[in-house]
Amino acid sequence: MAQQVATNITWHAGQITREDRQRSLGQKGATLWFTGLSGSGKSTIAVALEKALMQRGKHAYCLDGDNIRHGLNKNLGFSAADREENIRRIGEVAKLFADAGMIATTSFISPYRADRDAVRALHAAANLPFVEVFVDCPIEVAEQRDPKGLYKKARAGEIRGFTGIDDPYEPPEHPELRVRTDQLSVEDSVQAVLKLLDERGIFTV
Ligand code: ADX
Repeated sequence: MAQQVATNITWHAGQITREDRQRSLGQKGATLWFTGLSGSGKSTIAVALEKALMQRGKHAYCLDGDNIRHGLNKNLGFSAADREENIRRIGEVAKLFADAGMIATTSFISPYRADRDAVRALHAAANLPFVEVFVDCPIEVAEQRDPKGLYKKARAGEIRGFTGIDDPYEPPEHPELRVRTDQLSVEDSVQAVLKLLDERGIFTV
């Protein structure tokens, strides 16, 4: 857990309320947390969802694991401690996006339950919606897809500590939604997420 290091700092409140932002944007902010194995379809669904939301006049932004690791989190690797810090930072960033009224989607393996639960708690404390979506497919299917050729490398011993091969993945016990990407089309998965957001009142201000 990250500790508060800085002292002598004071929270400075703004003049615009969350409700002001919601009215202005015509939606509530929320974090949609996609978790699952590499190659399970997290980014594919997030990208298709972002487009579907845009077509409905809604505002969303994808925070993608591989992309964020090119910038904000370029100093992190794949040790348990680095994965924890990766998720902690993105949890904080997603919370800022949600507070700003955006629908923030995150596609990170986020293999550890405790790290995802910490992000959930962060959102609960700020009274912001957090929707955990388990992008579920058998590892055999993810390995067969192997869009980046990484499973092949991991099997060959060229990558150590690869999630699902020689590093753990802890599936969510109570996700808000589970999509079986070996059984559903991308469009079906997107529709399932949209339905859930609708039911949760995200589109109603
Ligand atoms: S997480 O575990 O910290 O949540 P994150 O989603 O940011 O991982 O990054 C995972 C992506 O990094 C994978 O989709 C894959 O492209 C790449 N990658 C490289 N090395 C590894 C590894 N050892 N384990 C898992 N993914 C890896």
